[in-house]
Amino acid sequence: MNNELRGRLTRDGIRIYDPVDFAGMHTAGALAARILDDIAEHVFPGQTTEEIDRKITEMVEAAGATSATIGYKGYQHASCISVNHVVCHGIPGPKTLKDGDILNIDVTVIVDGWFGDTSRMYVAGKLPRKAERLIEVTHEALMRGIEMVKPGNTFGDIGHAIQSFVEANRMSVVRDFCGHGLGRVFHAPPNVLHYGRPGTGAVLEEGMFFTIEPMVNLGRPETKTLADDWTAVTRDKSLSAQFEHSVGVTADGVEIFTLSPAGRFHPTY
Ligand code: MF3
Ligand code: CO
Ligand code: CO
Repeated sequence: MNNELRGRLTRDGIRIYDPVDFAGMHTAGALAARILDDIAEHVFPGQTTEEIDRKITEMVEAAGATSATIGYKGYQHASCISVNHVVCHGIPGPKTLKDGDILNIDVTVIVDGWFGDTSRMYVAGKLPRKAERLIEVTHEALMRGIEMVKPGNTFGDIGHAIQSFVEANRMSVVRDFCGHGLGRVFHAPPNVLHYGRPGTGAVLEEGMFFTIEPMVNLGRPETKTLADDWTAVTRDKSLSAQFEHSVGVTADGVEIFTLSPAGRFHPTY
């Protein structure tokens, strides 16, 4: 069935998919998650981020899938790799990782037309204590956001759960980037904000598919984009972390499409 006819749109322009569509998202999400599992062994001091990206490109091809990011708005890589104070959309390149660097690897694949979008944190060598706390809080913030996903709750409930937890830990939530609807397309309504007030925003309904992908800074929330037009960094150069899952709203809660098959989503395994 073509994308326009699939499901229906809510008043807020959010697509409602059919129960059978969960299977397609599950397959795409599982591949993205497996790639993130398998890339872990390629992250170490001395490694370049372009080599990590090359491995990801190979894994996508070996699975017979398509990278959603290669060719997307002119982007040329199968992943975004964001090191230390890079918030998101870091471009893989020849720079080598140093001991104690933390990095987010974000992969989006297309399988049978369905999009799976997920990212996690990794460390090259030994994880510094400050970075460990940041990573723990960011991961917990994502999971608290996901816990709010069920019919009848609002997107503001998700944002509030994330923001209140992050700020209680004296860290900040990035405002300049958000999660997004996805499914048969990469980015669709709604914008999933990682901050907000309970009870505000669109109401969640069974059949909505979207990402939650909070970016958390140790310092201030402001970002700026570098001259390459992609790389977003913290203005104050503080460390930043991010985790991302693709999820679907079920009749009584949530299904996470991008769970790690190896149980390795959390960075400190
Ligand atoms: N995967 C990113 C997201 O979470 C988008 C990356 S777009 C790219 O939405 F072009 F920078 F790769
Ligand atoms: Co995303
Ligand atoms: Co992503």
